[in-house]
Amino acid sequence: MCGIVGYVGPKKAAPILLDGLRRLEYRGYDSAGLAVHDGREIEVVRAAGKLENLASALEQRPLGGSTGLGHTRWATHGRPSEQNAHPHAAGDVAVVHNGIIENYLELKHELQASGVRFASDTDTEIVAHLIHRALEQGAPTLFVAMRQALGRVRGAYALAAISRREPDRLVIAKNASPLVVGVGEGETLCGSDIPALLGSTRNMLFLEDGEMAELTAGGVRIETVEGKPVERAPKRIDWSAVQAEKGGYKHFMLKEIFEQPRAVEDTLRGRINLDEGDVVEAELGLDAQAARTIERVVLVACGTSHHASLVGRYWIEQLARVPAHTELASEVRYREPVFGPKDLVVAVSQSGETADTLAAVKAAREGGARVLAIANVLGSAIPRASQGSLYTHAGPEIGVASTKCFTTQLVALLLLAVHLGRRRGTLDAERGREILQAMLELPNEMRWTLARKAEIHQVARHWHNAPHMLFLGRGLGYPIALEGALKLKEISYAHAEGYAAGEMKHGPIALIDENMPVVVVMPRDRQYEKTLSNLQEVRARDGQVIAVVTEGDAEAKKLAQWVLELPKMPELTQPVAAVIPLQLLAYYIADLKGTDVDQPRNLAKTVTVE
Ligand code: M6R
Repeated sequence: MCGIVGYVGPKKAAPILLDGLRRLEYRGYDSAGLAVHDGREIEVVRAAGKLENLASALEQRPLGGSTGLGHTRWATHGRPSEQNAHPHAAGDVAVVHNGIIENYLELKHELQASGVRFASDTDTEIVAHLIHRALEQGAPTLFVAMRQALGRVRGAYALAAISRREPDRLVIAKNASPLVVGVGEGETLCGSDIPALLGSTRNMLFLEDGEMAELTAGGVRIETVEGKPVERAPKRIDWSAVQAEKGGYKHFMLKEIFEQPRAVEDTLRGRINLDEGDVVEAELGLDAQAARTIERVVLVACGTSHHASLVGRYWIEQLARVPAHTELASEVRYREPVFGPKDLVVAVSQSGETADTLAAVKAAREGGARVLAIANVLGSAIPRASQGSLYTHAGPEIGVASTKCFTTQLVALLLLAVHLGRRRGTLDAERGREILQAMLELPNEMRWTLARKAEIHQVARHWHNAPHMLFLGRGLGYPIALEGALKLKEISYAHAEGYAAGEMKHGPIALIDENMPVVVVMPRDRQYEKTLSNLQEVRARDGQVIAVVTEGDAEAKKLAQWVLELPKMPELTQPVAAVIPLQLLAYYIADLKGTDVDQPRNLAKTVTVE
């Protein structure tokens, strides 16, 4: 998500930190900052927007010391601004952080009650105050104070801190967010990613979850959070700068496909209350009274986000028992649509800036509807124009073809459906708990599916020259078929069509012959028998079937030429895993054809024109 770089050594820290941040720019960010110990004090310089703004601020206020921290922020709590940019300071301490502190509200209230005043809206500032408080209460060192602070914090973090009292060291800690240490000649660095450190060293070691470290110019000392010493030798990293940006993957899209389990974990983080079988979501602004007055839900979106909305419609109708419709934003805005105060309009957009979706939001608000945004970019136009928001915490998505934003949109929509169902009284706590438990199992089910990449690659090798491909699915599998077809056409330029399997005999069946590959999305669900009949219809006309099935489906294995397996999992959450083989199939086909996977022709990541 955000980028961290830290330095301790004999050189001036600021230029090294700025260089590290520049090497992380490709990831996207909305603000940046440095904190440097000048031998007497810690000086902090921050700026909203691009790194040039920070560089200009540093020209006005040069930072002189040789121990410091740098950060590029991708906002998750608190809008993008200078005030919310990291580093955050409290007393003698400055802190940078990547990740999400789950219990930040509880801690914030506690700190406020003891007189602490906050200078930002971030969850990170809480950690700075906790460390400062530990020092005030007698913790002998920054390292000990950090350990005490971590005892209070729940969530995902890569943290780095400096203290005015200890000018010659950094203290870092990791849980569920990456953190790398660079061991140079008489200097030591840390970073959220390998590229941040490549300007100084190639000798790196990786912190594991539950570990902390103290960095001095002479080296690094690692311990577990419980205080057990850890011995780890640095490894030499031979990646080129470009390889490092992609985390060793060939393309950003592939990296983002494999990041999905982590993105889903982050989107769920702090939002599930298993005891109550309910969703904890203050940002939604939808209390029980408001949820009960809704008579219709309208989901507006474009492209991949529209496909996520189609899945969301099923979930909302099933769990909240309220009519739900989906609208292509580009159509609804020109139709003089009728919206009213009993409508909940849900605008789904990874960028939060899509012009058509924004126009639909404005039309809905003019009609008096309540509008809720599901977006990945905090503070973007669509959430700003809406009354409530539910952010997907996928982190920056660089590949133009959306992958991790799609699966996290699905997760957000299912959270919304549970939230509505619980408030409308159509979903009891026990069923709520079952669904939320199933959501918590998603990251592992996604890892299981990703591990079968070799089989998917084999299918891609066989079919990468096919000029056409048909994708079929029913129920929750139908939007997944649409998304599979969109992914394939976007990046491989092959003609691909997604169809509801039940519609096949109303037209597309005419296309089927021995040259037509047909992907059938058919995990074990209530529609299984019917989709199996469609598969047989394709086979009867010599169509070539690639079936996406639940593991151990002997029936499908007998009939289909290729089988891509999903783990056994609850029907409701299947779409989140079922899209993965289709994303990988599209990716491998495009890569075999040699297209520009990350920036396919004619497409833009953010579509701000009609
Ligand atoms: O940013 P948005 O989610 O609003 O974007 C909508 C579409 O432009 C987007 O999903 C597009 O279809 C992607 N290229 C899909 O991979």
